[in-house]
Amino acid sequence: MSHPFVPSPNVASIKESATIAVSQRAKALRAAGRAIIDLGAGEPDFDTPTFILDATKAALDAGATRYTAVEGILPLREAIAAEATRRRAGREAAVTAGEVVVSTGSKQSLQNATFALFGPGDEVLLPVPSWVSYVEMVGLARATAVGVPGDPARGLKVTPALLEQYATPRTRGLMLNSPTNPTGAVYTAEELRAITDLAASRGWWVISDEIYARIAYGGAEAPSVLDVAAQRDRLVVVNGVAKAYAMTGFRIGWTVAPRAVSQAMTALQSHTTSNAATVSQYAALAALTRTAEADAAVGAMVAEFAERRRAARAILAEIPSLELVEPEGAFYLFFKAPAGDGTAFATRLLEHEGVAVVPGAAFGTPEWVRASYAAARSDVEAGMRAIVRAWTA
Ligand SMILES: Cc1ncc(COP(=O)(O)O)c(C=O)c1O
Repeated sequence: MSHPFVPSPNVASIKESATIAVSQRAKALRAAGRAIIDLGAGEPDFDTPTFILDATKAALDAGATRYTAVEGILPLREAIAAEATRRRAGREAAVTAGEVVVSTGSKQSLQNATFALFGPGDEVLLPVPSWVSYVEMVGLARATAVGVPGDPARGLKVTPALLEQYATPRTRGLMLNSPTNPTGAVYTAEELRAITDLAASRGWWVISDEIYARIAYGGAEAPSVLDVAAQRDRLVVVNGVAKAYAMTGFRIGWTVAPRAVSQAMTALQSHTTSNAATVSQYAALAALTRTAEADAAVGAMVAEFAERRRAARAILAEIPSLELVEPEGAFYLFFKAPAGDGTAFATRLLEHEGVAVVPGAAFGTPEWVRASYAAARSDVEAGMRAIVRAWTA
């Protein structure tokens, strides 16, 4: 007698990550012999900087192979706390290592925070479009995600007025992401201040995902809520090494949050993954503390992203009607598809032109399409030319 798998209510409504689905389809076509240009990826295509690899090897040789404290090694938490303290300068006492929890990627940090802060009956405001995992994370916490459509006149960003429109007495918090995946939009310091002020006045939690902060094209790192929020008692700031340092596979992220929240997240993590991989924590320590080498490496990667972005926009300019979010950070171009059907356009691009992009439906905006320029410049240019061809086909 066979016993079919009946998913538990915990996972019954989880959807596979749509971004991963696209890259799997692209891989399948490639395996079948098609030449595929993958502009679907959310991962830098650069190698991890050599000084980080050397530090990783040295850490292994020095015996970084055992468990650490659940919340992470002290020097790494101290480095993260010191950076947060620098941003809060003059506003309050130093951020301490006890307010930092290191996790297995910023994805786990976000999940820890969502799970610790929200539960049944709570509503959580999510800007739309937003990264695929937020809605699932809120669902796993058995809270209700409430989408807040971003303003097309402001790069699809949300404003205090829009957030208020979707708030109810059950609203407990919101999730912010700047620079934004999928749009590449960046919230200004003033925009962040207005949102954190509103949240503070309502007693809402703000989970701010700043994983792309160092990948910004305005000449400086993107503003953080830590730079502007009047108080920190309702903020959970999430960051990690994956994107800025091309360390996606190392799986290191972290939160900076009030001590009580950090303790709850540590307790949660102690029953799920325990500490993030020990050797990866030492790799992250090198990335955060060897600042001269890190700044040079990040600077070179950001300069190359900027060059690809410039080349891509030059080609896309051949579509005068193109509605493109101003790409100020991260490595994504987000545009409205012809006939307002992002899924049809993404399918046509993949099947006819061999170019993989992500349909906007993945992010709650089915009319749009996301193309990543975390790919070789020649691929980005060829991909953009294919978009122009498919547009006019
Ligand atoms: C907005 C956003 N947050 C978090 C993550 C997860 O990053 P990590 O590799 O640190 O888990 C991603 C990765 O795609 C992302 O785009």
